[in-house]
Amino acid sequence: MKRTRIADIFNPALIGTDVCVKGWVRTRRGNKHVQFVALNDGSTIKNIQIVFDMSAFTDEQLKPITTGASICVTGLLVESMGKGQTAEIQAKTLEIYGTADTETYPLQKKGHTLEFLREKAHLRMRTNTFGAIFRIRSILAYAIHNFFNQKGFYYLHTPLITESDCEGAGAMFQVTTLNLANLPKDENGAVDYAGDFFGKPTALTVSGQLEGELGATALGQIYTFGPTFRAENSNTPRHLAEFWMIEPEMAFYDITDNMDLAEEFIKYCIRYALDHAADDIQFLNDMYDKELINRLKAVLEQDFVRLSYTEGVDILLKSGKKFEYPVYWGADLQSEHERYLVEEHFKRPVILTDYPKEIKAFYMKQNEDGKTVRAMDVLFPQIGEIIGGSEREENYDKLLTRIQELNIPMKDMWWYLDTRRFGTVPHSGFGLGFERLILFVTGMTNIRDVIPFPRTPNNAEF
Ligand code: 4AD
Ligand code: MG
Repeated sequence: MKRTRIADIFNPALIGTDVCVKGWVRTRRGNKHVQFVALNDGSTIKNIQIVFDMSAFTDEQLKPITTGASICVTGLLVESMGKGQTAEIQAKTLEIYGTADTETYPLQKKGHTLEFLREKAHLRMRTNTFGAIFRIRSILAYAIHNFFNQKGFYYLHTPLITESDCEGAGAMFQVTTLNLANLPKDENGAVDYAGDFFGKPTALTVSGQLEGELGATALGQIYTFGPTFRAENSNTPRHLAEFWMIEPEMAFYDITDNMDLAEEFIKYCIRYALDHAADDIQFLNDMYDKELINRLKAVLEQDFVRLSYTEGVDILLKSGKKFEYPVYWGADLQSEHERYLVEEHFKRPVILTDYPKEIKAFYMKQNEDGKTVRAMDVLFPQIGEIIGGSEREENYDKLLTRIQELNIPMKDMWWYLDTRRFGTVPHSGFGLGFERLILFVTGMTNIRDVIPFPRTPNNAEF
């Protein structure tokens, strides 16, 4: 008999028909006359209740049905009398696929902490919470492709192995096939990369932007959506060493067009999740954060505040609030500052623009004042920075000067500079941290809980 996914089973048209379901047992309870099994197959947060009439089954047959065991059941789908469920299955046949030992199965009990489950990342997707989170993650990925496809953007695949450090932070994971125990050296004692796989030092990319700009100045508007890698040793609830980023890049967009797109994009994603992952979001709202749905809806209804970094710093200075990190013009804002502006001062998302050039990357368009660049960071409640972007410096001489000021090796940059030598155009782009978006949509507070297998300092298991 053909299997029906549990997501599809709560369909009034199926009532009164025989169905087949397969999945993992959540619980079994009952007495010697009747036994109830809650089954989940991952397709939805909902379990289907299976009723075993013990005049037709033996205790021996049902004994392997413990939490975590995998089974296949056929039976009659009937309307349910039980509260909170619309249908249940009166079992006719039972097949056990695999047992789960009650002594050793780590998810035997309910109510494990998120910290405990992080240690069990290989199994945690079987819990309600992580099932919900990773279904939402998948739906959001789809929403992102949908959004850009509808807007006529092309999906560009940028390399993961690269020789350029886009963000200039120097926090790259080196990629090499050299024998680390016996490194070839040149006459000065430095590592000789001539014999390395690419004949030069390479690393995992921190961003697809630079190659994205090549795409945008050819295809008009592109986006990337891929993993990025940063070897910064920041053990915070908002940083991963491997995270996914969406980076649209648009020819002929100025900073205002860029901000408009960012706001429309992020609202589209949140609305899409509310429409297509309602059960999962409701579950997380009820279990973890009663304000979650209100917060998501509030963001959809509000225009984001737009103001300059300078104005933002003024507000922080006048706030009279004691921050852990000092605020002054020129300081890189910390998430406590960002969250003060968003959560306490404006009470809605904020786009900060025109940051001091010293704290931003080399490629950002320089303002007339000589001090600031046309950067934009989108700041969100609970999160802080969720998007970072800018209008790009399209003037060859200005860009070259900045590259030299920052001592970025020119020989690595010739191809990027060519976009400004041949048919340069005003253009802009930004990067959305995918996991930070998922944090916001799920209400989770630790970024390790919204990526299936988090990579953080000292953690690369599974
Ligand atoms: O602000 P960032 O570093 O900007 C860039 O990489 C630009 N090249 C983007 C562009 O203009 N195309 O990173 C962009 C976003 C951040 O706003 C944040 O949401 C996320 O990526 N992000 C991280 N997420 C998780 N872990 C980390 N270590 C992250 N670093 C940045
Ligand atoms: Mg940033």
